[in-house]
Amino acid sequence: MNEAVIFVGVQGAGKSTFYLQRFFDTHVRINLDMLRTRHRERLLFEACLQAGQSFVVDNTNATVEHRARYVAPARERGFRVIAYFFDVELRYAMRRNRQRPGAKNIPAAGVTGTFRKLQPPTKAEGFDQIFTVGVQEPNQFVVTPDLA
Ligand SMILES: Nc1ncnc2c1ncn2[C@@H]1O[C@H](COP(=O)(O)OP(=O)(O)OP(=O)(O)O)[C@@H](O)[C@H]1O
Ligand SMILES: [Mg+2]
Repeated sequence: MNEAVIFVGVQGAGKSTFYLQRFFDTHVRINLDMLRTRHRERLLFEACLQAGQSFVVDNTNATVEHRARYVAPARERGFRVIAYFFDVELRYAMRRNRQRPGAKNIPAAGVTGTFRKLQPPTKAEGFDQIFTVGVQEPNQFVVTPDLA
């Protein structure tokens, strides 16, 4: 079945690294940093919906409101909608963010701000399944399905 995968996690949590490991061969990556504008993101998102192409929204997607723009349209199109919640301690995300080169190294206040407003995903938002991702060094991800 076509999958709409929504990542939820602060900057430096390991989302894009996890995408490369787990979804690169099967799911189109929708990433606002790369696409630059919501308009371009919307076009690619709509293209995936129309084509029946599985995709990952690789943004922080910190709040219910941020995620709602993807969940309802994907459900309407018959996609299985899945959240991956990157449950990462702030200090680890900060450290990994700091170690990134150049523009990917974002100001610490940005990471803290996202951490503060982070709302863990719930089934009530329309997710068919929620996975929690624990990030362990080096380059290990431990994925746990929700029990409900
Ligand atoms: N499991 C891991 N073990 C060690 N290092 C990791 C792990 N996951 C990611 N990293 C490193 O941490 C840094 C941040 O990871 P990544 O860029 O994937 O985060 P992100 O969640 O995509 O952040 P952003 O939202 O800013 O794009 C990278 O330098 C990456 O190589
Ligand atoms: Mg990323």
